[in-house]
Amino acid sequence: MLVLGLETSCDDTAAAIVRRDDDGACRILSNEVWAQHEDHAAFGGVVPEIAARSHVERLDGTIERAVAKAGISFADLDAVAATAGPGLVGGVMVGLTTAKAVAMAHGLRLVPVNHLEGHALSARMTEDAPFPYLLLLISGGHTQLIRVTGVGKYDRLGTTIDDAAGESFDKTAKLLGLGAPGGPKVESAAVGGRADRFDLPRPLLKHEGCDFSFSGLKTAVREAATGLENPTGQDLADLAASFQEAAARHLAHRTEKAMAMMPEAGRLVVAGGVAANCAIKKMLQQLCAANSWGLIAPPPKYCTDNGAMIAWAGAERLAAGLAAQQDEAMAMAPRARWPLADPGEGKRFGSGRKGPKA
Ligand code: KG4
Ligand code: ZN
Repeated sequence: MLVLGLETSCDDTAAAIVRRDDDGACRILSNEVWAQHEDHAAFGGVVPEIAARSHVERLDGTIERAVAKAGISFADLDAVAATAGPGLVGGVMVGLTTAKAVAMAHGLRLVPVNHLEGHALSARMTEDAPFPYLLLLISGGHTQLIRVTGVGKYDRLGTTIDDAAGESFDKTAKLLGLGAPGGPKVESAAVGGRADRFDLPRPLLKHEGCDFSFSGLKTAVREAATGLENPTGQDLADLAASFQEAAARHLAHRTEKAMAMMPEAGRLVVAGGVAANCAIKKMLQQLCAANSWGLIAPPPKYCTDNGAMIAWAGAERLAAGLAAQQDEAMAMAPRARWPLADPGEGKRFGSGRKGPKA
């Protein structure tokens, strides 16, 4: 099965061609990503209207490159999958509408994909990640622990009660004047920094369950930064390292709670843009080793937003007989909000032909 995947839910314009064999093996034939950081640089954050306009301008060319690099033609494709939400709705509309046009023009199945499901299944493209597994999904807009028992079978165990993990990296980068993209800038600023210099809080340390909270950390970083007169490069490195360490420790602490809720899994999959962070992966590796669990982490280029994971989620849905019918798919509207799983409602999204409800 050969699938074109489109991703336009935030500030990356992405298209990829992925092949799924009958035995479930995945081959990523191309994976084109046009990052829009420069378009938004002057504004200190992603501007939805600019993002949507950039997707309009770049998506066609990105698709053409993906098709050319894969060495295929549109006639070889079986389906086109596109992020249908959640995300910035203007951008989602560009990708979904383009996918509908491609599907109509070339007689292809259209598979609207939940962006979070793209992340949730992304590790299965490149790693041996059989179900069930515990998923730590850490991105710019989401921070969740999810019990994954199959394609479309997701139970949310925990979520953030305020900021997302990636958002806290982005805000910290802005505060320290490091620029965008925040996560990678903080990670490189932290190299050579002393992680034990600033005593940052340990959020929700005594709380039951496995929810997250990042806003206190962000405030503590701001207070520490304003306490420094004329901060030097070393000060910034120490602050970045201290923040990164505190964020990693918090993620690991809450993940350990979720592991206790799902002891049968024995496997932790980490996904989403923040999963590209080496310090976080190292901390999770230690946690897994201490509990005799396996850690499965996709390569960084498949952690941050990409079209391959959308194509793959579409292929997994088609293979499992869980893709929406063509007429329903063609009628689907973009969704700004679209939870992957609600507490205790994992089954609701797994069985219906219609696909998830918002
Ligand atoms: O999954 P993603 O590409 O887009 C969303 O779905 O949100 O995640 C983007 C987030 C951003 O907040 C970005 O700063 C963060 O992932 N990120 C990182 C790293 N690379 C990207 N955070 C920490 N360390 C990184 N190396
Ligand atoms: Zn994402």
